[in-house]
Amino acid sequence: MGKLSDLVIPSDWETLAERILTSARKPCVKGMVIGGVDSGKTTFCKFLVARACDAELGAGFVDADVGQSTLGPPSTIAAKIIRKPAEVLRDDVRPPFLRFVGGMSPAGRLFACVAGARRALDWVLESGAQFVVIDTTGLVDGELGKELKTRKADLLAPDLVVAISRETELEHILAPLEKLGVSVERLRRSQAAVARSPSVRQRFRLDKFQEYFRGSTVHEFSFDQLAIADCPANFAPHFAPGQILSTLPLLERWSPVGLLVGLEDATGRCLAVGLVESFDAESKRMAVRAPAVDTGLVRCVRIGRSGIE
Ligand SMILES: Nc1ncnc2c1ncn2[C@@H]1O[C@H](COP(=O)(O)OP(=O)(O)O)[C@@H](O)[C@H]1O
Ligand SMILES: [Mg+2]
Repeated sequence: MGKLSDLVIPSDWETLAERILTSARKPCVKGMVIGGVDSGKTTFCKFLVARACDAELGAGFVDADVGQSTLGPPSTIAAKIIRKPAEVLRDDVRPPFLRFVGGMSPAGRLFACVAGARRALDWVLESGAQFVVIDTTGLVDGELGKELKTRKADLLAPDLVVAISRETELEHILAPLEKLGVSVERLRRSQAAVARSPSVRQRFRLDKFQEYFRGSTVHEFSFDQLAIADCPANFAPHFAPGQILSTLPLLERWSPVGLLVGLEDATGRCLAVGLVESFDAESKRMAVRAPAVDTGLVRCVRIGRSGIE
């Protein structure tokens, strides 16, 4: 490219540049909260949201914890805008924005988790959030924890990472982030934080699913018009070429019955999470139990890797 002054700039280029730069200048602080399991992340996030509401800021709450979900059922990343302090304590199991990641842990699903969190952040920003807090899973250990949190910080570009730790267990994540110029605030885990056993955590997930599926009905889908995401490779031949968005390794005697699925629109937004009740490969029909959903908007069925667990 030569000099900028040599270019002929169409007026729509100017309009677009102005629009982009104006929105870029709008101040909206984004905080991402990280810490191990039961470190008090969600409690601190709710506190921050309540404070933002007190200050009359519309707070975007992104719940990127796919296991111990505050918003939405487990296996999802969820978001909503909160304007009143009273709403902070009401955990919304059917929030306005959901992305389905297919399971209760980020392990094996890092891309879905990182991309889903970014889409949820975009949604709260587009919905007018003046402040954003991002809650995350307790997966922080080792290379996997580091990969997940640093990729998330890369894609979400938070203004601040709040790290809640007992001792130095987050330093393998925080040190590289700080070297990259990310602002980090360290908090000590509160003495009041309570550790929960695996069975208590499982009970929590089952209760969330029970609440989510309350009043659900069975919806019928024909696969002729739908894309299929995360389909096992040995099952892919049942579908038209080009219909499969992504495949999983070969799975023996695979059947989707009993698995969770995400019923997605064209953008990958999850309109509802469902549970497969029946599937017929010949007629390419699937019956899915799910809360009320406009089935006409469903463009893709994303197949989960687990049932309710
Ligand atoms: N500052 C605090 N005061 C009182 N209880 C707390 C506090 N921090 C955490 N807890 C309690 O400890 C438990 C774990 O906290 P939580 O915020 O859910 O952790 P995380 O989201 O990191 O898993 C919850 O029962 C919560 O109510
Ligand atoms: Mg939590």
